[in-house]
Amino acid sequence: MGEMSFSEKEIQALRKDALAHVIPHFANNASLAKLPRIYTRGQGCYVWDIEGKRYLDTFASLLTTVCGHGRAEIIDAIREQLKLLEFWPNFEDAFTVPLIKLAKKLAEILPGDLGVSFFVNSGSEANETALKMARQYHVARGNPHRYKVIARRNSYHGTTLGGISATGLPWFRTYFEPLLPGFLFAPPAYDGIEVAGEPPAALRDPLAAMEQMIEWENAGSVAAVIMDPLPGSNTGFPVPPKGYLESVRALCDKHDILLIFDEVQTGFGKTGKWFACEHWNVVPDIITLGKGFSAGYVPLGAAVTTPRVANYFTQRPGQELRTGSTYGGHSIACAAALATIGVIEKEHLVDRAAEMGEYLKNGLSKLRKYPIVGDVRGLGLLLAVELAQDAKAKKKFDPALGVGRWIGDWCFEHGMIMRNNGEILVAAPALTITKEEVDTVLGLLDQALAAAMQHFKL
Ligand SMILES: Cc1ncc(COP(=O)(O)O)c(C=O)c1O
Repeated sequence: MGEMSFSEKEIQALRKDALAHVIPHFANNASLAKLPRIYTRGQGCYVWDIEGKRYLDTFASLLTTVCGHGRAEIIDAIREQLKLLEFWPNFEDAFTVPLIKLAKKLAEILPGDLGVSFFVNSGSEANETALKMARQYHVARGNPHRYKVIARRNSYHGTTLGGISATGLPWFRTYFEPLLPGFLFAPPAYDGIEVAGEPPAALRDPLAAMEQMIEWENAGSVAAVIMDPLPGSNTGFPVPPKGYLESVRALCDKHDILLIFDEVQTGFGKTGKWFACEHWNVVPDIITLGKGFSAGYVPLGAAVTTPRVANYFTQRPGQELRTGSTYGGHSIACAAALATIGVIEKEHLVDRAAEMGEYLKNGLSKLRKYPIVGDVRGLGLLLAVELAQDAKAKKKFDPALGVGRWIGDWCFEHGMIMRNNGEILVAAPALTITKEEVDTVLGLLDQALAAAMQHFKL
């Protein structure tokens, strides 16, 4: 099926052109200097590179391909829509049929009364839109001075100006400061993270820290709180403490602040619920979606809000939400997303993520037999292993050693794509992963850890 073969000469030429003519997103120049990796084919949880080597992908094409590569149902839906009408913009007063059906379907599967969608092309744009919605909502209610946004340290919300302004990871912000005014960073909230991360003082009471921040800043100046209910792969999916998200919700209600949940990474079944916030029964005022939304087939994002908020944009001429883009809610992307949701429902992939996630997490926990496995955490099929120099003593590795990178490279050499963010190894495959494939992941990771122990003389 769709096999492509390339001569050595063609491969060399493509690699040369890639280096000469493309800047990859968040490029890794050290890795590029060794070998630009070119992928040509995918099926299920596997991808093949240009030389025909097969890899088991535990990172689901950057956390997108929730139902695997090569799904006929999604490809057919895209093809059917292409034949009918490849594109019409969702502009002024115009809609397409798949876009309306998708919006209705989202209202069905999202928690609470989240059900009014604004469609975009990416997760960053979804967050950008959510921030604009919050700002315009308060202006429409006669509170133009509410412009501040409380985000959290260590959270990632995208690369647009609003996205990085809300991102609490210095690496993403460094070259671009000063960013948008009014963005403040509350401490993250991690439940018993074992290796470390934040200094303990900031972790002790993250809620009180946020409350103090709101009061000190003057609650009347705060438009929104934005957070990822389960923080993403950059920090290895640390689960929030009991009661934290419920209390954030209450705090926002008390001060008339809109609560935005960024579920770009965690939505569409990956955590074992349709949306991560359902683990705590907390419904935000705006939820942002991307990545798995259209399963990697066509880019799509959305900011979805409640009728209560949306009413401020829809009731009268002149009140309209002032944002838009040409391709936001592309007809093909909406058709792909509808088909994706159809596959998730038909194959019970949300329950499957919970089951396979438990199986994978149990297997990862057994790797604690290696003293360098410091923590295993996450929900459903969003899991991570954090490495430590000495797990018992909670001593971190010196990043200069590059242990996580070495393990990632070892896995790649042995036919498995395993993302490492420093010393955090990410295990977040497609929700369709089989038990046998999970066993392969665990077996390879076991060998990789043993090899790392030997290589680094640990
Ligand atoms: C939690 C979160 N928010 C926002 C984004 C940005 O999405 P995109 O890369 O589609 O712009 C990402 C992407 O990794 C993400 O993980």
